Amino acid sequence: MLDARYSMRSHTAGSLNKATVGETVRLTGWVGKRRDHGGLIFLDLRDRSGIVQCTFDPDASGAAFVVAEQVRPEWVVMLDGVVRERPEGTLNPAMPTGEIEVIITAATVLNRSETPPFEIEAGIDTDELTRMKWRYLDIRRPEVAAALVLRDRVSQRFRKSLETRGFIEVETPILGRSTPEGARDFIVPSRMSPGKFYALPQSPQLFKQLLMVGGIERYYQIARCFRDEDLRADRQPEFTQIDIEMSFVEVNDILQMMEDVMREIMHEVGHDLPVPLPRMTWHDAMDRFGSDRPDTRFGLELVDLSGVFASSEFKVFAGALSSGGVIKAITATGAGDWSRSRIDALNQLAIDSGAKGLAWVAFTGDGEVKSPVSKFFSAEEMEALRLATGAKAGDLVCMVADARATANEVLGVLRLRLADELGIERTGFDTLWVVDFPMFKYDAGEDRWAANHHPFTLPFAEHEELVETDPGAVLSYAYDLVMNGLEIGGGTLRIHNPELQSRVLRRLGLEQDEITEKFGFLIEALSFGAPPHGGIALGLDRLVMLLAGSQSIRDVIAFPKTSSGADPMTQAPDVVSARQLKDVHLRVD
Ligand code: AMO
Ligand code: AMP
Repeated sequence: MLDARYSMRSHTAGSLNKATVGETVRLTGWVGKRRDHGGLIFLDLRDRSGIVQCTFDPDASGAAFVVAEQVRPEWVVMLDGVVRERPEGTLNPAMPTGEIEVIITAATVLNRSETPPFEIEAGIDTDELTRMKWRYLDIRRPEVAAALVLRDRVSQRFRKSLETRGFIEVETPILGRSTPEGARDFIVPSRMSPGKFYALPQSPQLFKQLLMVGGIERYYQIARCFRDEDLRADRQPEFTQIDIEMSFVEVNDILQMMEDVMREIMHEVGHDLPVPLPRMTWHDAMDRFGSDRPDTRFGLELVDLSGVFASSEFKVFAGALSSGGVIKAITATGAGDWSRSRIDALNQLAIDSGAKGLAWVAFTGDGEVKSPVSKFFSAEEMEALRLATGAKAGDLVCMVADARATANEVLGVLRLRLADELGIERTGFDTLWVVDFPMFKYDAGEDRWAANHHPFTLPFAEHEELVETDPGAVLSYAYDLVMNGLEIGGGTLRIHNPELQSRVLRRLGLEQDEITEKFGFLIEALSFGAPPHGGIALGLDRLVMLLAGSQSIRDVIAFPKTSSGADPMTQAPDVVSARQLKDVHLRVD
């Protein structure tokens, strides 16, 4: 908490209350709202701790009254005065200091301010680009400062919770070589090695594994990570992980440790997290919620109708089934009387998400059935559909016929849209583990197998032999921590056998000489007595965003970047001088 030690002030604004009535105080801070009430001037003084009302009276305040007449918003002032209770009828219960005010006896202007480009107020509706261009003014707003304070409390608590469990913080290089976490690297040209480049870490993954080989056993780091990917509300090009690694552990050890730590973090900021957390397999998450980060605060679960339509006359359904696909559905309770255009919008969303179309049946409130496809269904099929989906009058059944993965994914997107449109209330912190991810995913574009998490993930022991023969069937010791439908963390047990590590890399399409060149140091390290180990990394920005109730991680980062990766304040990225380019042996096209 901000206090008055080591400063020009005797008290902070936010610390004043009924208990300090009668005290003589010296305050410093910024001028907020100023109200001239025929004779009296009221001025809100703001510092990081809060806001207090300062009152200037032409008789009591003397020369200070003249200062109060001159000051403008965001001027920096030092005020002397006496705290008193506010007169009857002027109390402001909305303000923490709303029971008192300070009668000012002396005022000094420490600095002036230009008129700010936007009002420094809670809850203002100024466009984000403007706020980012003058981010230091934005940070003066209580809600932005509060998010940074919250972030600090969360990371301090992480340090404490991990430290008491025997973890030590170790820093790892920022200038390194590229590690494959799946995104594009940011690269840095080397002056001393012409034509060579460092890569900024996408995560400290390999270094933390090497620390385990080094016998550190329990490592953590509040680590900055860099990924050159397309940005969204929950993605920034640089972000922060609470990065953790442990030796001599099984999956349970890591999950239990993380649950205990998370419970302490949540407790620190006033929330109860019941542990152990639920665990759901990746397969179930996809099957029931159409997502590997399911929001389980509401139902609208997916239902498999493949059995219902096993002998369907409807070409679309029959075709999907005969090529090994499925027919899956979601029942939107209360959407049975939606307009045609509203349903068409759902259809468009399904197509944009990868479906060939959306087959729907609306059961209207007054017992009618509306559907462009029900004419293809027999009476028995309609009855079985009702039974399987539980649809009643007033409900809308949305169906997708496609490969299982596509049907799940499309309905997963639809499910979230329906929850929004149906106004389903989602509160609290719904937290669970998703476990047992597939080791590989097929990249159709590149016609090769890619790592689902990263190539250092340990496959299930009983699936090891499938690495070469049936990679799609290999499950791995991988787990994600999901909160409110967002992936806030992910980790795995690691391969500690050099031979298995090489096999997995070969499966990903690397030739032996590439493996030696790029990962030789890792394989070699594993061959010198690497302990069984594993870990996890939490996305600090995402966690704090959820705790702050924000919609964007930019709200909880002091100096965030725009969706095009730029900083409107400093104008980064920018051109560099010809001299700088020459130094690093580069020419720009
Ligand atoms: P992963 O890539 O899943 O795992 O990252 C861990 C967590 O980091 C957060 N995150 C991001 N946050 C903001 N902006 C981004 N661009 C971004 N990318 C990821 C997410 C995610 O869950 N080395 C492994 C961890 C391990 O195996 O131990 C890793 O980095 O919340
Ligand atoms: P068609 O016979 O192709 O005109 O399609 C009839 C209806 O089925 C339309 O409402 C389409 O949106 C829908 N449809 C088409 N393909 C699929 C599919 N793969 N899954 C679900 N519905 C589909």
